[in-house]
Amino acid sequence: MSDQLTSFIETNQPLIEKTLHSLITDIKAPQPLKDAMLYSLQAGGKRIRPLYTLAVLKELDIQNEDAIIVASTIEMIHTYSLIHDDLPAMDNDDLRRGKPTNHIVFGEALAILAGDALVTIAFGIIARLPNISPELKVDLIDKLSFSAGSEGMVGGQVLDMLGEGQTLTLEQLEEIHVNKTGALLSYSILAGAIIANVSSEIMSALEKYAFHIGLAFQIQDDILDVEGTSEQLGKTAGKDLISEKNTYPSILTMEGAKKELQNQYNQAFQALENIQMQDGLLVEFANYITKRSK
Ligand code: IPE
Ligand code: IPE
Ligand code: MG
Ligand code: MG
Ligand code: MG
Repeated sequence: MSDQLTSFIETNQPLIEKTLHSLITDIKAPQPLKDAMLYSLQAGGKRIRPLYTLAVLKELDIQNEDAIIVASTIEMIHTYSLIHDDLPAMDNDDLRRGKPTNHIVFGEALAILAGDALVTIAFGIIARLPNISPELKVDLIDKLSFSAGSEGMVGGQVLDMLGEGQTLTLEQLEEIHVNKTGALLSYSILAGAIIANVSSEIMSALEKYAFHIGLAFQIQDDILDVEGTSEQLGKTAGKDLISEKNTYPSILTMEGAKKELQNQYNQAFQALENIQMQDGLLVEFANYITKRSK
């Protein structure tokens, strides 16, 4: 990782941790529900999504006090998606972020409800922000709902589940990945652009960048499931093969998957060509996404 990206993460990650903690401790909820939400939120994710929102704003040289809260709500929704993804009825995993999964510790019912609460609360938090205009907040909420819901993450999870044990085409797999993972990750990039109220020209360049980064992120997740260890990943390695998931390595071979990852990186890189940025943070992020080892 470059020095610039390392220092950006070292500066912003503690702020995200603090914001997530206070967003949950400040709400009114039965204590076991709060405990279950905080358990998964504070289990130590990489925080790539909220960091991306803040990175885009930094690149555009825009400051907004509420940006860190918007960024943190995306992490809340992402964490809900992980709690539900790990449930016995879904991927049936017992390790996440290096700890026993939420349902192992709190039981399935509370895990489901903790996920429900995280996703529901997130929208209200955005609605109440004082430093973003009502028009931009509606846009943020609208696009978040689209990215997380049936046209995005949830829809992708359904296709992923239905595809288990089936022979899919590369096109079908791309649709799954773009939706189950790409949509919310892309949103985290575009949320920064929405808060910055960018021109349509910059928005469309960032949309292109975000699309390819979102897909690249899940291709690398598939690769790491094969090449990583459970200790390194903080989740059970080798699960995709056991669950007969369609993945980039399973359809294209490992070599083909890595080629496709590079192809997505190149397209993301090209999308940035026409935008004036502060420094190279978005290129460095793209590098990190495609080379990360966890
Ligand atoms: C894992 O996401 C699930 C996917 C969408 C591939 P991350 O790799 O961002 O997981 P955390 O947040 O760091 O735990
Ligand atoms: C899940 O993809 C994407 C989500 C919406 C959570 P995976 O099922 O591959 O994610 P991991 O590998 O369990 O983190
Ligand atoms: Mg899954
Ligand atoms: Mg999973
Ligand atoms: Mg995976």
